[in-house]
Amino acid sequence: MNIKILSANANLYSTKRLVEAAKARKHDVEVINHAKCDIVIEKKNPVIIYKGHKLDHTDAIIPRIGASVTFYGTAVVRQFEMLRVFTTTESQALVRSRDKLRSLQILSRAGLGLPKTVFTNYSKNVKEIVDQAGGAPVIIKLLEGTQGIGVILVETRKAAESVIEAFNNLQARVIVQEFIKEAGGADIRAFIVDGQVVGAMKRQGKEGEFRSNLHRGGTASVIKLTDEEETAALKAAKAMGLGIAGVDMLQSARGPLILEVNSSPGLEGIEQATGKDIANSIIKYIERNV
Ligand SMILES: Nc1ncnc2c1ncn2[C@@H]1O[C@H](COP(=O)(O)OP(=O)(O)O)[C@@H](O)[C@H]1O
Ligand SMILES: [Mg+2]
Repeated sequence: MNIKILSANANLYSTKRLVEAAKARKHDVEVINHAKCDIVIEKKNPVIIYKGHKLDHTDAIIPRIGASVTFYGTAVVRQFEMLRVFTTTESQALVRSRDKLRSLQILSRAGLGLPKTVFTNYSKNVKEIVDQAGGAPVIIKLLEGTQGIGVILVETRKAAESVIEAFNNLQARVIVQEFIKEAGGADIRAFIVDGQVVGAMKRQGKEGEFRSNLHRGGTASVIKLTDEEETAALKAAKAMGLGIAGVDMLQSARGPLILEVNSSPGLEGIEQATGKDIANSIIKYIERNV
């Protein structure tokens, strides 16, 4: 089979592991930088040009599109779809997953547990917003943040008002969210491939840190999901239309609450924590579908 990995950096752990896993199963595999693909559109003849040449026959792609290049990366994935190439992440689902608000609305409709979340169009009525989110302490999140940057725990209503006003003034969009204290600075990542949890880990923030992101100094360990957690994670990935998903959940007094669903989840943390060959699961997913 001819498999192409869409990745801006062939040296990333996830990219390298996917190449290894594809080769181990005797496939032809190539890393393509989606940012350097040109797209040619004409009547019934979609073409992708890469490094001056028309791309050869491809059976499947594995999109690994970073948040900063969602727009162009998605256009390239869509072009492959027009060529009837199997993709482990559909362009529609990719776009959907990058919009935090739309994602929360989809997850809510699917009946999943979520931290109560408020979003407004720079409303001046800050008191009402904080009250709707359950009152202080609240979490304030920049809409386009990643790796824990732009996620703030605000202890009092006064402080929340100042922070929201400051962001409003900068025209930076934020969501205000109920703070789930009992999560204890930890969250759970369930890695899903083709409707199955292939690995799960618990990430614990460093001492005195409520954010569990590994980039913020958190540590990961393997965990066995409860039935309720597993069901919630699978349902979340399905609602988002993602064949591959990293579902992040908080353990709360009222059961698992979905924080976000990642459409290009990294392999390094989860493979190291679980000792599992997740890249191999992804290649086998392709084999079942092409
Ligand atoms: N509502 C919340 N209650 C408690 N902890 C939270 C809440 N939201 C986020 N966190 C913590 O902060 C971390 C980062 O938040 P997240 O929404 O995942 O943003 P990012 O996209 O930057 O990773 C989470 O992994 C979790 O540990
Ligand atoms: Mg996160």
